[in-house]
Amino acid sequence: MSFLLPAVLSSGVYLKTISGADTILYRHPMQLDTLWLDARLATLAPGRPGLGVVEKGAIGARDGRIAYAGPQAELPSGIDAVERKSLDGRWVTPGLIDCHTHIVHGGDRAREFEMRLAGASYEDIARAGGGILSTVKATRAASDDDLVRTALARLDRLIAEGVTTVEVKSGYGLNEETETRMLRAARRLAKERRIDVMTSFLGAHALPPEFSDKDRYIDLVCGMIPALTREGLADAVDAFCEGIAFSPEQTARVFDAAKAAGLPVKLHADQLSNLHGAKLAAQYGALSADHLEYIDEEGTAAMAKTGTVAVLLPGAAYMLREKQFPPLDLFRKHRVPVAVATDCNPGTSPVTSLLTIMNMAATLFRLTVDEIIAGVTREAARALGRLPVVGTLEAGKFCDLAIWDIERPAELVYRVGFNPLSQRIWRGQ
Ligand code: NIG
Ligand code: FE
Repeated sequence: MSFLLPAVLSSGVYLKTISGADTILYRHPMQLDTLWLDARLATLAPGRPGLGVVEKGAIGARDGRIAYAGPQAELPSGIDAVERKSLDGRWVTPGLIDCHTHIVHGGDRAREFEMRLAGASYEDIARAGGGILSTVKATRAASDDDLVRTALARLDRLIAEGVTTVEVKSGYGLNEETETRMLRAARRLAKERRIDVMTSFLGAHALPPEFSDKDRYIDLVCGMIPALTREGLADAVDAFCEGIAFSPEQTARVFDAAKAAGLPVKLHADQLSNLHGAKLAAQYGALSADHLEYIDEEGTAAMAKTGTVAVLLPGAAYMLREKQFPPLDLFRKHRVPVAVATDCNPGTSPVTSLLTIMNMAATLFRLTVDEIIAGVTREAARALGRLPVVGTLEAGKFCDLAIWDIERPAELVYRVGFNPLSQRIWRGQ
């Protein structure tokens, strides 16, 4: 089976023809910008088993989109390209997608890491005013340029591993000014680098020090949503539903405000305890519920019903030395889509390598290689509401690719600290 972009055959520029009184410029329909040949494709296309592998594949780009992805032998005759490149049997996957990060933030938490090594728990540190709040202090004190510069250093690590879409959350400002600055910084990343950035407003991440009443703070969070939406700063709204953060009722108020603004929601849910956050997220048709170490079967079934993606974050479980892992068997039984992400943040997952996280997803959480590769491509796209445009190698989608110097896909998961990326393509280049 092959995938040919119908639009390619009907649109374009370059060849002049006359249609009635109008002169229309046509480009030869079979003229692509780039055609990669002799590739092994992991298309991840739905309806194909496993990774949707095409041995001896070809992939063509035109105007930043995939024009053809399929067997080389089935390339339409007459197809031509400005550039033809042999990949000598290299593997091509969709560009990787890191669908849960906090890469925009000030400071670091190395000191707290030492405290945890000496026996303090994450929750102890948070209750003593450290944790998220120490990053809030550093983020409020950082200039806009500092926020962008330090985030770029982290982003470049992800880009070097073939990441072509990244999600970035706010949540370390906890007031209107700094939450807005964080989201603007996230938008600036997309101007500084060739990458898609999807933003999530995470005002309900922790109670800021100047508030003593969580409900009053939630009023403020809900009140921020309309202006952030008007400014086009938030693609989604997230919250942290947990004993040390916000209750399901408070989370529901944030979700209601998101809904009123027309924004999709996602949730940090059931990470440290089971407050039935995943079920709540599903009730709101959330794009994803993330973490999920303590989710139960009811929450799992609810997610399956709404197609809410389970975003697994093994970096946080590793750093917190969590003993309870997300119930993969339940996700499989109920056919909940599963994605994998870095959760890159200064506290629980100071990890800027999606490849390393992929290894953790296997060794810690016991996902299969196919589940993990789907989890950082197709399912991560789904978790961001971007599946119609990225996440698989199918004609019509953006031509975002990762080309790998590997013999088999398992190598992307099995090595630690080794980056086999040969080339990263974003929008066909
Ligand atoms: O995804 N769970 C809550 N939020 C982050 C941690 C943030 C922090 O500790 O700074 C997370 O793990
Ligand atoms: Fe997170």
